Amino acid sequence: MLRRPLLALAVLAAPFAAQAQPQEIAVYTARHYDTDAVLYDAFTRATGIRVRTIQADADQLVARIRSEGANSPADVFITVDATRLARAEQAGILQPYALPTVDARIPAALRDPNGQWFGITMRGRVIMYDKQAGRPDSLSRYEDLADPRFRGQVCVRASNHPYNVALATSMLAADGEAATEAWARGVAANLARPPQGGDRDQFRALPSGQCRVAISNTYYLGHVGNSERPEDRALFERIGVIFPNQGAGDRGTHVNVSGAGLVRTAPNTAAARRFLEFLVSDQAQEILAQGNMEYPAATGAPMHPLLRAMGEFRPDSIEALRDPARATQALQIMQRAGWR
Ligand SMILES: [Fe+2]
Repeated sequence: MLRRPLLALAVLAAPFAAQAQPQEIAVYTARHYDTDAVLYDAFTRATGIRVRTIQADADQLVARIRSEGANSPADVFITVDATRLARAEQAGILQPYALPTVDARIPAALRDPNGQWFGITMRGRVIMYDKQAGRPDSLSRYEDLADPRFRGQVCVRASNHPYNVALATSMLAADGEAATEAWARGVAANLARPPQGGDRDQFRALPSGQCRVAISNTYYLGHVGNSERPEDRALFERIGVIFPNQGAGDRGTHVNVSGAGLVRTAPNTAAARRFLEFLVSDQAQEILAQGNMEYPAATGAPMHPLLRAMGEFRPDSIEALRDPARATQALQIMQRAGWR
């Protein structure tokens, strides 16, 4: 006689419990861009799932997830740089995301072959110059930056920044150790000043003539072009972009990705997978591309007009970057060569 009402209660209790506890996922992210908050808000509006973020350096996040172990609240891991994504995979903190939607939208070249992470955006690392000073002669490859005719003319940030480590890693894979060391030695000899500041500071020093050429990621120049300050937009107009290594048979311009993966111990896998699927949606790709001036990773997603204005190019493969040991070797080579 008592059984039936109890059963009915149990059936009713499930949806009430789901409503009483709003869903939330924890995203551990090493990205440092304002756009990402807009992205998380859009996901919450679309799904009702809240996003709590933990921000730190990628390697710190990996260490934290490992030390939290089975109790880690981390659901999703996001970072810039394919090498860091590969390192997270090697550390065993990820699991296959197993989402056909993601694999259908993101080209295989921008995904982990083991299905543990995928690219959400891409950026190029390019050579910039002052259009008023003119495009430097015979400068079409990264390798050319080591030529003695650019003595005292090159501006680039410190060698140990992941952006430069990745560039040298791609060169190490393409040209080998001896050539990469000779290149790094040549770049170090050609520096206009000791490495200082970030990418933006390199091309900001072009109009004064302090630097004749600068190395920077594409999105930093995009930010300047999209700025509300007229002097920034004037700077954008003045800077010329060289997409290196575009010749027939050459490897293409160095690119890197931001990527995301599902944490192995994720407590909320269903909600986390919805978030990962959201990242490749038109809406998310547009927020990332329009807000942070990155190239969308999803096939067919539109890029910002200012990026389009910089020109089309053929990207190098990111395969070489997926080997953390090679990246370590590349950094050692640059430091041995005297590039601080
Ligand atoms: Fe950056």
